[in-house]
Amino acid sequence: MRKPQLLVAALVLLAATSSLVYAKVVEYEWVVDYAWAAPDCVEKQVISINGEFPGPNIRSVAGDTVRVHVINRMPTEAVVIHWHGMLQTGTPWEDGAAYVSQCPIDPEDEYTYDFVTENAGTYFWHGHYGMQRAAGFYGQLIVDPPENFTEPFKYDGEHSIVLNDWWHASMIDQQLGLFSVPFRWVGEPQSLLIEGRGRYNCSLMAGGSACNATRESCKLHVMPVEAGKTYRLRIASVASLGSFNFILEGHNFTVVEADGHYVEPVTMSDIDVYSGESYSVLFTANADCSRNYWAGFNVRGRDPKTLTGLAVLQYVNTSGEPSTPAPVSPRWNDYAYSVAKARQYLARKEFIVPLPQRGPDRQIFLLNTQNRVNGRLKWALNNVSFVPTATPALAALKYNITVEAHGGHSSATPPDYFQEGYDIMKPPPYPETVQGSGVYELKGDQVVDIILQNACSLTANVSEVHPWHLHGHDFWILGYGDGVFNASKDYASLNYYNPPLRNTAPLFPFGWTVLRFVTDNPGVWPFHCHIESHFHMGMGVIFAESVDKLPDVPTDTMGCGATKFYRSP
Ligand code: C2O
Ligand code: CU
Repeated sequence: MRKPQLLVAALVLLAATSSLVYAKVVEYEWVVDYAWAAPDCVEKQVISINGEFPGPNIRSVAGDTVRVHVINRMPTEAVVIHWHGMLQTGTPWEDGAAYVSQCPIDPEDEYTYDFVTENAGTYFWHGHYGMQRAAGFYGQLIVDPPENFTEPFKYDGEHSIVLNDWWHASMIDQQLGLFSVPFRWVGEPQSLLIEGRGRYNCSLMAGGSACNATRESCKLHVMPVEAGKTYRLRIASVASLGSFNFILEGHNFTVVEADGHYVEPVTMSDIDVYSGESYSVLFTANADCSRNYWAGFNVRGRDPKTLTGLAVLQYVNTSGEPSTPAPVSPRWNDYAYSVAKARQYLARKEFIVPLPQRGPDRQIFLLNTQNRVNGRLKWALNNVSFVPTATPALAALKYNITVEAHGGHSSATPPDYFQEGYDIMKPPPYPETVQGSGVYELKGDQVVDIILQNACSLTANVSEVHPWHLHGHDFWILGYGDGVFNASKDYASLNYYNPPLRNTAPLFPFGWTVLRFVTDNPGVWPFHCHIESHFHMGMGVIFAESVDKLPDVPTDTMGCGATKFYRSP
């Protein structure tokens, strides 16, 4: 009788003291508004926070609560913020996905995000409504391990950069173009930015003063280093379109972290970074210290039409920019090179999270195709092109609110399989597809496999790279392969021992990628291609996980669509 009581008391005390010691609240007030910015020397409209572009960086310690008061001062546009890589265990309504986890925050309205940063690592945040990320609405979110935790590597200093592609056309022009008949494509980016800075060649612009190469705002980002010291460089990509290849001129580096998980150290001279991914690499400043070096990245997976994105790796006592040419990346369409690189990432030995001791309870095969709906260009999964409803899916499922899928789109459950014998090497024989806001319902405590299957687009011989990102979970990447996934043969080739845990995984042209996760986080989670335009054109699905166990949803996330009457005054 006595013993258990004592134990309970001790546990309560332990919980109380440890939370006293570690957990703090990191609080921010963010006023969102339009602003002018010239990140590549050309002025355009961006979405800013407290007047800043790119937005502020968040730094916290694992276990901390991050609380962000968002005040939307954009006069005619609603907004949400997604905390990319945060698991949101127990707080699915703070995930910041418009019409999935919450109603967007209206002009002059406010909303407070409040969530715990569960795992240490390199993350970021960005707008998740329409194409707001492409309007420059993003920043870093770095979570440090608790003080008593020793990381499996050492370094003397740290730098952190976000990579992005950049257009002079506004976000609205880009969105309208994607939905226009005929399709109006914005084309390849004008610039590539490192930490919100790049450089456009002003002589390419006709007249006017819009481009001014002497602006402070387009001075390249500088990373100071001291000779002989080792640095941790955090690299993330919020690209709207391109896949990237990043190089530190004159320095090799060792990858040690990917999407918040330690990986077996792997040394390379260049790294592929897909939109939605983040890495930490270690490098030692051991090159000739009398000069500076380029940090640069180029577009991969698309025939590059954009100059290398540059920053300066600056040894102390030197100044100015390197006189050497910009770093050159491997051939853009050398996919074998990219697949081989992706396969190098394995969970770090001491940190392997073992797979469940059983096979999948559910397999969802997702065929990635380019399609049309009434002449509009779309992307689809198993022949369903995603459109959001006017009602947030989380509240709708929790409170059993019947949602009239807007525009008469299908709300039927989308299929787990695609048509057997589908020829992925040819453009779709029947390009017309349907739009749907249907969700995949997943039961709790299940092992779920996602088999992403790439295919030919509407153009013969073309298949694109799609970086797939899941909210609310990290997944194991069990493997990549070519052609059509053959369950009876290819399951044997997957890595069940030390696959990396990630939140984003590339799907290569004409190939497949297999992901596995366990449904241990009740919520309603988007799973989508992280290319901004692809998701906007329907390239995503929704996983409604353990609907019977969803926590109560705060009413201040509601108020739109069929939740109009749920928001308390
Ligand atoms: Cu960073 Cu739903 O995405
Ligand atoms: Cu895509």
